[in-house]
Amino acid sequence: MTWPYKDLIAIYDLKREDISTILEMASSFKEISKRDIKKVPTLRGKTVVLLFYEPSTRTRLSFELAAKRLSADTTALSASGSSFTKGETIMDAAHNVMAMAPDCIVVRYPYAGIPSKMAQLLPCSVINAGDGYHEHPTQALLDMFTMKERFGSLEGLKVAIVGDIMHSRVARSNVYGLRKMGAQVVLVAPRTLLPPGVDTWGVDVSAELDPVMPDCDVIMMLRVQKERLSRQFFSGDREYSIFYGLNRARVEMMKPDAIIMHPGPMNRGVEITCDAAESARSMILDQVENGVAIRMTLLYLSLGGSVNVD
Ligand code: CP
Repeated sequence: MTWPYKDLIAIYDLKREDISTILEMASSFKEISKRDIKKVPTLRGKTVVLLFYEPSTRTRLSFELAAKRLSADTTALSASGSSFTKGETIMDAAHNVMAMAPDCIVVRYPYAGIPSKMAQLLPCSVINAGDGYHEHPTQALLDMFTMKERFGSLEGLKVAIVGDIMHSRVARSNVYGLRKMGAQVVLVAPRTLLPPGVDTWGVDVSAELDPVMPDCDVIMMLRVQKERLSRQFFSGDREYSIFYGLNRARVEMMKPDAIIMHPGPMNRGVEITCDAAESARSMILDQVENGVAIRMTLLYLSLGGSVNVD
């Protein structure tokens, strides 16, 4: 069958079978990055444009590497080096980029809705690389791929997502994806960092981290997104780290085979200590490695690759 989607905007839009297909295909794409010559001709002649209007290390680099490993041509634009600084809107920029005939635009933007708008208006594929608090679908896919590699299946896994849920597109995408795949999710956060309506998400919620630690297969720590805080949501970094930080004592409470994840960037000493980030349980760099494989898969599917799932 042919991949049915032009764009990838949100995990919310995908079916369970779509997620399974992506996770299965990512294993083959991961193998390419282990070769001496890390390049295949699959997307030769295709052009991928990266529009990053918000800072990024992992997502931007891994999309660029993913495209290059599939032999696509890439070019990147950031807000600071573009005519955004002269008042041009992102949508005007997008129409101008489209006039140069890209096959795919990968976009990160500080507010929700822009990737979806581009997908409606532009004929090329659009992949959301993170929009405001809305979604970060490729991050959730690489997170689920990392869990599946480790545990074999997502069905029945217990996953705690800890921290600034309110401002986290990573939390939203992971909740949608993990629930579709049969995992159980518990969100752990101070009440002030939980979004309104969280009771409709179909997850458990806890204001305390310690009781959750011994029960979960995955502890996913989130950064407090200070750049998105409009007011004081908690009393300070020290208090936050005492109540919600992952430290050596809490790592010792974990189940024997449980793992630690973090989408990055980390605020060491706030939501996670160096001990925890670098412990044998930490899958943080595996997540980064898997990001390239997932993004290769998504570029392949979005740019017309077919998939055999029947
Ligand atoms: N996880 C993530 O989105 O990291 P970057 O902001 O560095 O891309």
